[in-house]
Amino acid sequence: MPDPYAASAPYIDPLIAGFWHGTSPALTAELKALAALSGPVVDLGAGSGRGVRVITSALPGVPVSAVEPSAAMRTALFARLADDPSLHSTVTVVDADAQSCELPGGLRAVVAMNVLGHLTPGQRRRLWARIAERLEPGGVLLVNNLPPHTPQTVPPARMGGFRAGEQDYEGWAQADPSGEERLTWRMTYRTLRDGRCVSETTVDHEWWTATDGELRAEWAEHRLTSRVAGEGGTAFHVVGRGSGPLH
Ligand SMILES: C[S@@+](CC[C@H](N)C(=O)[O-])C[C@H]1O[C@@H](n2cnc3c(N)ncnc32)[C@H](O)[C@@H]1O
Repeated sequence: MPDPYAASAPYIDPLIAGFWHGTSPALTAELKALAALSGPVVDLGAGSGRGVRVITSALPGVPVSAVEPSAAMRTALFARLADDPSLHSTVTVVDADAQSCELPGGLRAVVAMNVLGHLTPGQRRRLWARIAERLEPGGVLLVNNLPPHTPQTVPPARMGGFRAGEQDYEGWAQADPSGEERLTWRMTYRTLRDGRCVSETTVDHEWWTATDGELRAEWAEHRLTSRVAGEGGTAFHVVGRGSGPLH
């Protein structure tokens, strides 16, 4: 099977740094509120490991499963773990996707950032059922729902950029509807030297959309309620049973 993230992998970690800068304070607060619970944490679609770094610093010593199906992204993840003893002693890297990974019982938290649209509606619903069965009392799902929430055209927009040595790098994203509940993201990564584009890589990702209202209805089927934490483009849902830290 080709790795859909192989071409994006060199650029994701620096380009997603801004998101993590924005979301880390609220995510840290939500995770710290789970300190008295006992179970492990799972990070679905862990990518280059910026999320596991937030989890391990909020909940030191707590076992974390970093589920990541892309070998290219796991390369970045292992590089992050290798240089940090607090990460490589507690984070287990799991070569699987969200649909097929084993979820242990008694979960303290499931983190799923910037990944939800990779799941079809059916896969998403089955995932909620599995998570609902396995959360420990008070445990939560922490998940964001990137816009747009319905299939629509998104004109090309610069996601961000970074400089390394004598070269600049830029990431651009645009989208077009590709079905009733889906769109195709076209990601373009450019390398510039002295302001001149010296290479360009384009990758398409299929992305399933859902409104926040649809997600709330899906969670309600499993007696899960939710609230929003964080702000703006880095906000996320905190989903759990009424008896947990939600209330
Ligand atoms: C945009 S990246 C986000 C990575 C990380 N969560 C972050 O926010 O930094 C999406 C990640 O989801 C992974 N992914 C794609 N399909 C997936 C699936 N079905 N289950 C779990 N992860 C998936 C990709 O390999 C990629 O690493």
